Parts: sequence; C-alpha cells; structure tokens
Amino acid sequence: MRILGIETSCDDTAAAVVDDGGRVLSSVISSQESFHRKYEGVVPEIASRRHTATIIASVDEALQQAGLTLRDVDGIAVTTGPGLIGSLLIGVETAKALAYATGLPLVGVNHLEGHVMASFVTSPGADEAPLGTDAFPLLALIVSGGHTELVIVTSWFHYRVLGATRDDAAGETLDKFAKFLGLGYPGGPVIQRIGAQGDPDYHAFPRVSLGREGYEFSFSGLKTAGINYVRSISADELSGHLPDIVASFEFAVVRELLSRTSKAVREFRPAAVTIVGGVAANQRLRRGATAIAETHVHFPPMRFCTDNAAMIAYAGLMRIARGERTSLDLDASPSVGIEDCSD
Ligand code: KG4
Ligand code: ZN
Repeated sequence: MRILGIETSCDDTAAAVVDDGGRVLSSVISSQESFHRKYEGVVPEIASRRHTATIIASVDEALQQAGLTLRDVDGIAVTTGPGLIGSLLIGVETAKALAYATGLPLVGVNHLEGHVMASFVTSPGADEAPLGTDAFPLLALIVSGGHTELVIVTSWFHYRVLGATRDDAAGETLDKFAKFLGLGYPGGPVIQRIGAQGDPDYHAFPRVSLGREGYEFSFSGLKTAGINYVRSISADELSGHLPDIVASFEFAVVRELLSRTSKAVREFRPAAVTIVGGVAANQRLRRGATAIAETHVHFPPMRFCTDNAAMIAYAGLMRIARGERTSLDLDASPSVGIEDCSD
C-alpha cells in the first residue's frame, strides 16, 4: 500500500508518499521561511497564499520523486488540524479535490498524531531504526513551535495526554527569545547554532517546574526571566557573551523538557520513549536525552522532526489500512487535540 500525504498546517507546504513498511518514497517540503522572515514570525495570510501557489507543484513533485502517478497510490491523507485555519484549508481542499477526481480513499489526520507517527517511518540513511509495535505503551514528548505535551500512546490510535504547556510552547519560547535578541526567525535553529559555541553554565536561569506536581509545562516565566536577564546586563556583556547566554537559555528549556519526561518514565515505565516535533531536531536535547538512564530515547530522523508530509502519509496509511475513510465534506479543525483522534 502507498499513501500520498499532504501537510499545510503552518508555514511549510509538504507532500510525501509512504508505503506500508513505513518507507518514505518521497518527501517534498516547500519552505516559506523567506516570506515570513522579515516579519520575524508566521503571517497567516501570507502562509495561506503561499500554500495555494505551491501545493499542486509539491504534490506533483512528491509523486514524481516516488516514480508514481496518482493512479499508483492507494489513498490520500491530509492534516486537518491543529494549525492555522487558512493554511489547513488549502491542504484539505486540495486533498478533497484529488480524492473526488480519482475516487481514492481520503482520510484526515491529526497533526500531533502525525508528529508521533514520524517515529515509525524510515528512509535511506536514517541513523536509527524506526520504532515497531513493541514500542507500546509509548511515551511521546511532542515538542514543537505550537505544542509541548507528554502523551502516552497505549496502542495505535490510543492517546492519553499526561500534561501540556499552560502557556508558551518550547519552540515558541526559543523563537521569542531569539526574536528579542534580534537573531531572526525561526529561533530554534539559530539558538542551536549560536549556543553550540557557548557555556550552558554561564548563567543559571531558574528551574521552571520546581515543586510542581503533574506533567504540565510552563515556559512563559522562563521567557520573561531570559528577557529580564538580558535587560539587566550591559551591552558589552551581551555582545561578549552572546553564545554563553544563548546556551544557558537553551539548556534551561531542554532541562525542563527532560526532567518532566524523565519523571514520566519513572512513573509509567513505558516500553519506549520518543521525542518528536520541530524542537526534537535540537542537538542539546538529543544529547541530554541520553541522560534519561532508565530507557533509550528514540528520535525520528531529523527531517521528519520538523513539519513534513511523510508523517501524515504514514498516520493516514495506518488508518486507511484498518478501513477508515473520511467523507468529502471533511473540514479543517484548527484547535483539536491529539486525544480527539483517539479511538
Ligand atoms: O514541528 P514544527 O516544524 O512546526 C510546528 O508544528 O510548530 O516546529 C517548529 C519549531 C519552531 O519553534 C522552531 O524554532 C523549532 O521547532 N526548531 C528547533 C530546531 N529546529 C526547529 N528548536 C531547537 N533546535 C532546533 N534545531
Ligand atoms: Zn508540527
């Protein structure tokens, strides 16, 4: 079985083809970064218009790279939410039109389920084997620009959210701190690059979760602490120690993510742990995760951490394989949670 996936939830126009072995036959991502950079954030109106301009070419290219035509695939999967409504609609309407024209089965996919499913796909050159069915119960940390949550995946399509962020997502925190420092957008990769040269012990940012029970996250206090600290130091110290300050802030974000994950590992004893979403591309997080001694932490291949359509295609494939179909009146759902797609 081969499924075409379409993903347009935020600012990447993505299309991919995945087969039932979880093999990624093609994954095309048309980034809109250059259109949003001067605004230092995603402008929803621009995102929607860019998706309209590139979606058909992205689908064509994904099919072509896989050496297939639409006649050769067995279904179409598309992200329905969460995400920006104007962005989601371009993918959803395109998928519906293609399904209508070809008669192929259509299935809507939750973007967060897609991020988790990235743990099960594989492509040539991946440094790690994908997870298999022996990974359940799976503890997943979903950590992206819009989401930070710990989820127990008890089996395929069964999700229990342990806790999510009360305020900013981890990626959003990195993006906002980078924006405040004038480092550009998106902030996560810039912070990683600059922070790699710095000393993470230079400044001790406060621990976020000290004394708090449960699995919720909170990053707005850390963001404010970062901004207040930068305001409190001299311009010379800032310019002389930028990598150290960035590394210290990045370390504080990573520490918060890993301490909650580690706590969940101890309490729930999952068969496997996976860290997914854009921030899972972060090297300091990847290195730090080896310190969760109780278990090996899986990370999807780097290019399937940030938004992509391969993860959506595979989630759709698993759903289509068990007979699931979405009707042609499918609509975008900008604010659904992962538990909303639980069985
Ligand atoms: O999953 P994603 O591509 O889109 C959302 O669903 O939000 O995640 C984007 C987020 C952004 O906040 C970006 O700054 C962050 O992931 N990010 C990173 C890295 N690459 C992307 N954060 C830290 N280190 C990275 N290498
Ligand atoms: Zn995402």
